Amino acid sequence: MSWGWEDDVMTSSALLHPFADPAKPEGDFVKIVRAEGTTLWDDTGKTYLDAMASLWFCQIGHGNREMVDAIGTQLAQLDSHHIFDPFTHQPAIDAAEAIRSVSPMPDGRVFLGSSGSEAVDTALKLMRQFHRLNGDPDRQILLRRTRGYHGTNWGGTTAQGIEPNRDGWGDLVPHFVEIDPDDVEDAARVFAEHGDRIAGVITEPIQGAGGVFPPSDGYLEGLRRLTEQHGALLCFDEVISGFGRTGSWFASQTYGVTPDLITFAKGVTSGYQPLSGVVVGRRVADAFESSDAMLRTGYTYSGHPAACAAGVTNIAIIERDGLVARATEIGERFEAAFAALTRDGVIAGHRGTGAVQAALLHADGIGTRQRMLEGGVVVRPIGEALAFCPPLTSTDAEIDTMIDVMVASIRPA
Ligand SMILES: Cc1ncc(COP(=O)(O)O)c(C=O)c1O
Repeated sequence: MSWGWEDDVMTSSALLHPFADPAKPEGDFVKIVRAEGTTLWDDTGKTYLDAMASLWFCQIGHGNREMVDAIGTQLAQLDSHHIFDPFTHQPAIDAAEAIRSVSPMPDGRVFLGSSGSEAVDTALKLMRQFHRLNGDPDRQILLRRTRGYHGTNWGGTTAQGIEPNRDGWGDLVPHFVEIDPDDVEDAARVFAEHGDRIAGVITEPIQGAGGVFPPSDGYLEGLRRLTEQHGALLCFDEVISGFGRTGSWFASQTYGVTPDLITFAKGVTSGYQPLSGVVVGRRVADAFESSDAMLRTGYTYSGHPAACAAGVTNIAIIERDGLVARATEIGERFEAAFAALTRDGVIAGHRGTGAVQAALLHADGIGTRQRMLEGGVVVRPIGEALAFCPPLTSTDAEIDTMIDVMVASIRPA
């Protein structure tokens, strides 16, 4: 069947792409048709190494049959049913248990959604409601961090520290205050001024979409100390950093700072199904459990059985195949190569933790990204940084090819 636009790539298709130029013709996009392990195929038969695990999410590699079978088996047994009161089902119970058992809050509770944005907006609501339940409804201020990315729903859009993503949507959510991304003294000043009205702080432990920034020394510890001193909550957005990416199940464990809430998505299913959520630590869970108020938030697909089956199977695969430790090895391989390239002046520097790394170029990364695509490697340019976040199943030879293609694609600034 012809839909009329295939022959004329200048005619726009019905599809309005996220984070793209709305006028870009459909025919100018790279059309991915197949994926296996770390390899992608486009519709011309060209192959690419997926150095970004798609969009920072595919921990176990593409095309895993165990995942496909687990999801299909679940759909055949119970395609879907919601879990609003009075209903529940085993896939949701099992997914929540699997997630909390690898988290730094194994005595917490797990709220489920489908996207990182849903997880973030829920966490922001829970932080404010926690204080209402504690008789402190005036605590509404939420601190966001410059360079932070927290999705594109209203709360997450407001919580972003990437200004262009906040602009143009009209009035956002009130009572957000931005803090310096590296200097915790700035947060200390905000707490000194508004401490008794601050509900909480949201931050990625390692900032991803903002350019791959590990925390500066003492930053996360400083936020933990300030939130505790002032009775506020700390939420780590681990949508990218969760599920093995930084060499521990969660970056909270890698950096040794335990927050009150953790948002997750992406790597929880390696992208085979949309699943996200919030791990709610005991302190916050106690407040909700001891209140007689109903939790009036949730999504139709909170705990979708197929997504939950994907989560349980994905976590079991990460565990069985040692992929958390593999993230550390991948990180060490990138770091050794990037350090040598920095010494030789090929790149300006590098930063990252575990299997989320960035090479810093001497110029903007868009041209290099384009040449790398032509050379068969997918990376993500963020200003002068080129982000690498490959599947944790990637081989050493694949990592080396990603780096070789980058070097061959760099032109003098
Ligand atoms: C840290 C972080 N939070 C939230 C989100 C939003 O997730 P989603 O795009 O699934 O809504 C992302 C997406 O990249 C993210 O990196």
